[in-house]
Amino acid sequence: MSERYCVLGNPVAHSKSPLIHQAFAAQTGQLLEYTAELAPLDGFEAAWRAFCESGGRGANVTVPFKQEAFALCDTLSERARRAGAVNTLINGQNGRIYGDNTDGIGLLRDLTAHDVALAGKRVLVLGAGGAVRGALAPLLAERPDELLIINRTGAKAEALARDFADVGAVRGGSYDALEGTFDLVINATSASLSGELPPLPEGLFTPGGVAYDMMYGVEPTVFLQWAKTQKAATVDGLGMLVEQAAEAFFLWRNVRPETVPVRALLRETLTR
Ligand code: ATR
Repeated sequence: MSERYCVLGNPVAHSKSPLIHQAFAAQTGQLLEYTAELAPLDGFEAAWRAFCESGGRGANVTVPFKQEAFALCDTLSERARRAGAVNTLINGQNGRIYGDNTDGIGLLRDLTAHDVALAGKRVLVLGAGGAVRGALAPLLAERPDELLIINRTGAKAEALARDFADVGAVRGGSYDALEGTFDLVINATSASLSGELPPLPEGLFTPGGVAYDMMYGVEPTVFLQWAKTQKAATVDGLGMLVEQAAEAFFLWRNVRPETVPVRALLRETLTR
């Protein structure tokens, strides 16, 4: 019998995770079922437990439940503990729940796939929400020369920088504090969702600099469109989505899928 996995979210119908995990399963010959499950906004834990009772082995967790998933785990990975959020749940032996967070490693693998190195580089991160909290430890582990977090609400960026000061050189502030040039600028704000551009100055990129948006769509985001006018190379978040999924798949099945064909598949379904 095939084992069951799902993505739990609200909304969740738009999720690409079923497509990605079904492609991984077909490619690796794993017998599994992967569906999108809508959890009520006030019923995340009940939805997860019901899924486990119906034979569920694990789940991905998406907006807005990553913190709730974190809270219900019996055991957390170090990276999930640091992120304060869980995107991958494992229904373990004796009903124990294991939580991990593969978002940050997904970002890093995608940067590597695009030949973007961080060691000794100046990195700017825009935003200070959950997406940034998940990404900071893996980014700092690459030993950038400097990592600056800039956020509309500056105090949130400063607090994040304090929380991660033991991991590496990181500072936080508001957009007025933004100065200098950067080798890599990562947009982790939700501004792209509403077609807005954070207030960024001209001349933000070093020559050969890279702009990365955690969001993706059929068209480049406004941030990536602006970055092109600044002569930066641009990368969207489609690869990060596929890479975080591959890491979750590995945790569940102990098999590492090839991500290149699945990136291509996803890109193709976007443009269809
Ligand atoms: P996520 O979990 O995806 O990180 P979030 O926690 O809601 O989402 O965080 C959204 C981030 O986008 C925040 O850093 C937010 O800034 P504030 O903390 O000041 O709210 C940022 N953001 C949203 N819209 C923005 C905009 N139009 N310009 C700049 N930053 C924006």
